[in-house]
Amino acid sequence: MAGITTSTTGRIPFIAGNWKMNLDHLQAIAFVQKLAWSLKDARHDFAATEVAVFPPFTDLRSVQTLISADDLELKFGAQDVSEHESGAYTGEISAAFLKALDTPYVIIGHSERRTLHSESDEQVAAKVSAALKHGVVPVICVGETADDLELHGPSAVPVAQLRAALAQAPDAKDIVVAYEPVWAIGSGKAATPEQAEQVAAQLRIVIAEVLGQDVADATRVLYGGSVKSSNIAGFMRQPNVDGALVGGASLDIAEFASIAQFLKHVGV
Ligand code: 13P
Repeated sequence: MAGITTSTTGRIPFIAGNWKMNLDHLQAIAFVQKLAWSLKDARHDFAATEVAVFPPFTDLRSVQTLISADDLELKFGAQDVSEHESGAYTGEISAAFLKALDTPYVIIGHSERRTLHSESDEQVAAKVSAALKHGVVPVICVGETADDLELHGPSAVPVAQLRAALAQAPDAKDIVVAYEPVWAIGSGKAATPEQAEQVAAQLRIVIAEVLGQDVADATRVLYGGSVKSSNIAGFMRQPNVDGALVGGASLDIAEFASIAQFLKHVGV
């Protein structure tokens, strides 16, 4: 169970909820309040397991204000960021804007951005660089499709994507990496804990090669793809899996709170 406690790895487990295009700002306020109550009721130890929500852009200000006003220990992040600094980029949101909202995290390179919006590895790298420049921690998503898995095996594509994503960030110190096999996202068919561990271990090697061993040892590598309260324990028992990026199940307060309380499932 080396991956599940800070005492063994020095890494604080991280449970992150990617809301995707769900919940408007009013719904977000109610949701975050209820989630905070649920976790408080469960006596959640935020120092032992970090919990964050990733709402749509229009919710961020409301979520930030609520967290700050009520002094909540929940964190939050954005789902994307522009690679550009400012200017004529209609519809884009800059890393500087996220920083101005004290946004701690931003998801970059989610497979839905890569496939539905044709985001290239180069764009992902530029976004990572923009986030780091403004002190917003990138949650860099990588993952292979079912075809990739058959053609190239389990880790070749995620490893190549991570190398590319770090290409413009040779001095990065604070990043999070999320391994999300595309075939497992929203399919109800999660990877096995062993599959997740195998790729997470390879990704940590890439981080060590590019950013050094200290950064690799400190970086949280998450698994994402059909994570639920019933399967979280298996992932968290893996030594190189430090948390989860949760989609569908993060929209159900009781279910997401239960995932955040994964230590109860693994019996530690
Ligand atoms: P699901 O948990 O719905 O499979 O989504 C995973 C995901 O894409 C999180 O970013």
